[in-house]
Amino acid sequence: MKPSFLIRNIPVYGDLILSPMAGFSDVPFRLICREFGMSMSYTEVISMDGILWNNKKTFKLLDFLPSERPVTFQILGNDEDKLVAACRLIESLGPDIIDINMGCSVSDIAGKGAGAGLLKNPSKVGRIFYKLTRALSVPVTGKIRLGWDNKSRNYYEVAKILEDNGASLIAVHGRTRSQFFFGKADWDAIAEIKQKVKIPVIGNGDVKCVADIERIKKHTGCDGVMVGRAAIGNPWIFQHKDREQVPNEEKIKVIRRHLLHMLEYYGHDIGVILFRKHVIKYIIGMHNATELRQHILKCCNADGIFNLISSHIERIHKQEAA
Ligand SMILES: Cc1cc2nc3c(=O)[nH]c(=O)nc-3n(C[C@H](O)[C@H](O)[C@H](O)COP(=O)(O)O)c2cc1C
Repeated sequence: MKPSFLIRNIPVYGDLILSPMAGFSDVPFRLICREFGMSMSYTEVISMDGILWNNKKTFKLLDFLPSERPVTFQILGNDEDKLVAACRLIESLGPDIIDINMGCSVSDIAGKGAGAGLLKNPSKVGRIFYKLTRALSVPVTGKIRLGWDNKSRNYYEVAKILEDNGASLIAVHGRTRSQFFFGKADWDAIAEIKQKVKIPVIGNGDVKCVADIERIKKHTGCDGVMVGRAAIGNPWIFQHKDREQVPNEEKIKVIRRHLLHMLEYYGHDIGVILFRKHVIKYIIGMHNATELRQHILKCCNADGIFNLISSHIERIHKQEAA
């Protein structure tokens, strides 16, 4: 089978990737998405300082299973030498790739020059990639936005700097930092980057349904497509199915599997609390979803959540049959 693209020498089979999403793209959710055809894993972003301060919670975010390879660890930081030191440490944990986050829009982070804040300082981006690509054995990649704001859309300059300093791939969220997650993603800009660099480009932003996957590929020529919010509660998008095409019986099975992965990974109490934000997305579009959502959000045990959903679906089926 021919890979869809290579990250330096690492083959990636398939072109659909779950976006790194803090609080969502953890091991349990990535496992579910992999089942449906997601082609590689990105961990949730971690901070350079968390690694250098040996913070246990930070290291926990780098958990992955061998079946997830290729796995990308994503890190953010604003200091080139500290980033090198932190990346050397995490490289020893065995990722296939290390990615530098240049898209995080959170004020506390971007305002201090990390995440999207790095886009304001392209020469620092160059130094970071120059040093990292020499210090690490694994390929180094970057995930960028189009610039800080509409007046400083420097994506082309940053993309060239990444390529010239040894980056092996660029993922592009087609919005500026000042857009946060709103407004239209600019696929023309992603197309422009794809035309001008030789390394693989992943397109991201405004992929809301299966049809959008083909649309962004055609529009931009990108090598892969990253799906973020639209995959929460709808991992079937990696199987090229929209949520409306998935029968309730299938939804129940996957909700159960996802919940079991959460319990196994986090333990019962934390697993249930963290699962609630997924399950309220799984039920979108179901009859009386608002009422069901309210019950789920009050429920503190796994059996309770599961019973609420299965009896809700049973009721829907009875009503439909009557
Ligand atoms: C809750 C949430 C958490 C996110 N966390 C990260 C992250 O850890 N690293 C990152 O590069 N992007 C992060 N993003 C941005 C997404 O990866 C993606 O670029 C963005 O949501 C646009 O894609 P979408 O329109 O498909 O959601 C996050 C987005 C959301 C909604």
